[in-house]
Amino acid sequence: GLVRVVAVDGPAGSGKSSVSRAVASRLGYGYLDTGAVYRALAWHALAHAVDTSDASAVVDASGDFDLWISLDPAEARVSVAGTDVTEAIRTSRVTEAVSGVARVPAVRRGLTGLFRALVAGAGRPGVVVEGRDITTIVFPDAEARVLLTADPAVRAARRTAETEGADVAVVAASIERRDAADSAVVEFMDAADGVRVVDSTHLDFEGTVDAVLAVIAEET
Ligand code: C5P
Repeated sequence: GLVRVVAVDGPAGSGKSSVSRAVASRLGYGYLDTGAVYRALAWHALAHAVDTSDASAVVDASGDFDLWISLDPAEARVSVAGTDVTEAIRTSRVTEAVSGVARVPAVRRGLTGLFRALVAGAGRPGVVVEGRDITTIVFPDAEARVLLTADPAVRAARRTAETEGADVAVVAASIERRDAADSAVVEFMDAADGVRVVDSTHLDFEGTVDAVLAVIAEET
């Protein structure tokens, strides 16, 4: 079926999850957080005591990865083999392990196929798909492609405000480490040809949602 795709990429803390969810709600589209799927796979590997720096062990663990994810923008839930991991995938243990899992090429190929199948079967007119390589690898022919960016200091400040008891210097270092690791695998700091940049550094949440909706309206 022809499910329309809006592809949104960006670095850690760019606000792409909350913005993409709001955009999906406004359009009546589904929402797919691909980072949540990478996180769920990292959680699954850790739950099976897999060394996430060992690529072949990670590939083995991905063989019995039984994922369920809600595509409803109003209800972000993820489970693995029937266990709800929605909160567990946000812990620092998973956050620190996920880049190691995501750099394995066989894992990326497998999850890319999974994302395409989830979108095709979404039963919705369209899906907003958000991650790091959605505009370039997963859905390069999406109806609209957006790179959502913000200055590193602003991203760290926003992430810190979201997390109770968090220290901005620790958060900034963690974001910087993850962006460096992830950039070595996929290019998302600069927009590919035809990808529109929305810089949210000087925008509030609603302003960012409106800017993304304006790009979509122009592209379609
Ligand atoms: O978006 P989020 O920060 O939750 O993503 C978690 C991790 O999943 C990223 O740090 C990256 O390692 C990986 N990821 C990826 N490709 C995507 C989405 C996420 O490699 N499309």
